[in-house]
Amino acid sequence: ARVAVLISGTGTNMAALLYGAKRPDCPYEIVLVASNNPDARGLALADAEGVPTFALPHKGMKRAEHDAAMDAEIVKSGATHVALAGYMRILSPEFVGKWEGRMLNIHPSLLPKYKGLDTHARAIEAGDSHGGCSVHLVTAELDDGPILGQTPVAILPGDTPETLAGRVLFAEHQLYPRALEELVTRPYRADWLLERVREIAL
Ligand code: GRF
Repeated sequence: ARVAVLISGTGTNMAALLYGAKRPDCPYEIVLVASNNPDARGLALADAEGVPTFALPHKGMKRAEHDAAMDAEIVKSGATHVALAGYMRILSPEFVGKWEGRMLNIHPSLLPKYKGLDTHARAIEAGDSHGGCSVHLVTAELDDGPILGQTPVAILPGDTPETLAGRVLFAEHQLYPRALEELVTRPYRADWLLERVREIAL
């Protein structure tokens, strides 16, 4: 499988996917790292690793227009899958529809808990015993698609959102490459999961 990774920032999850792909028996390769932020640190890293990069600021562009330009670049790269890794943009329905079943995201909470932002602060505030991370298929609803994998991470006494985020990030880096590998080697499971979601929505 050929994977395009979309980032907006540091790109440590992108790095985890990229280094995972260096294993000789890895069933995917990273063919593009694209960003809405030309200053995203991950772009320089991908470039240094010989992975093609693309950056297009979204400012002044309509959402659908920006997504279409990203999509054109992804198609040009020959990608079969899209991995969102800290991509801080809501995607247009057209883009989501086109990649449904072949696009995944990593989110720093144990979904369905704490969709959206400030997940760690909310988990600590609620007195939860664990935070964690989830990899899920991307559907039209934010952070709502079928879950492909999750890792719970214990919350320690005295944890701040920052200390917890740091530990959850370790877990993210373990989980994401494995979930991606599983998706590309068992695509029928993604279709099955999406069918179940549609049944429930009806
Ligand atoms: C990760 O915690 C990811 O789950 C969230 O944004 C963060 C991105 O970190 N959506 P990085 O850019 O992969 O280092």
